[in-house]
Amino acid sequence: MIKLAPSILAADPLNLQSSVRRMEEAGCDWIHVDVMDAHFVPNLAYGPEVVRRLRQTTRLDLDVHLMMDHPETLLDAFLEGKPSCVTVHAEIDPPLQPILDKIRASGARAGLALKPETPLSAALPWLDQTDLILCMTVEPGFGGQPLDHHVLRKIRALKETGYAGEIEADGGLRPDNLQELIDCGLTVAVMGTALFHAENPAEEVAALHRMVPAHE
Ligand code: DX5
Ligand code: ZN
Repeated sequence: MIKLAPSILAADPLNLQSSVRRMEEAGCDWIHVDVMDAHFVPNLAYGPEVVRRLRQTTRLDLDVHLMMDHPETLLDAFLEGKPSCVTVHAEIDPPLQPILDKIRASGARAGLALKPETPLSAALPWLDQTDLILCMTVEPGFGGQPLDHHVLRKIRALKETGYAGEIEADGGLRPDNLQELIDCGLTVAVMGTALFHAENPAEEVAALHRMVPAHE
């Protein structure tokens, strides 16, 4: 069953606790925490303290997405909040090995994210050292953008490698395009706008959870 990870980037920051509780009650699987440093992406969002407080607020897995040029500078602080998964970008300059090692050593799962233009080849050397590959389906930085359909080819190619970890997409996922992503091999769907702005999130979540790969 597809895991649904509402992104708090689309939540009302002044009512984060109630928004997250609403997603939990609706049956979502993870909470996706978008972190932005205003360098790697032209936006600024959330810090380690939010992860720490979310950990005390929800029993759902916390899926932290570090859109940062230098995630190593705040990694200890993020890990102290006990996230379930921490994902860094393949495009950054700092060496990935020590970052992925530190994430896993903390007991969290390690993820690697690829921007839409970054080829799958950038992730291949890391498949056995990650628990999740995030294929961004929009240019990172802002919610509410349209999905870049070219990324479906990358998701399918990743599935065809036999990758045993989670295959996640983030950006522009909607009820009307999720089936084709699931058919390509997607296992985790980050959805901000589509879930936080849903009229009836529980109904929406139940319908999305019923989607299975066409070939199954
Ligand atoms: C981009 C952000 C968005 C957000 C979800 O950096 O990460 O992808 O989480 O966006 P929407 O609202 O399109 O689901
Ligand atoms: Zn994200």
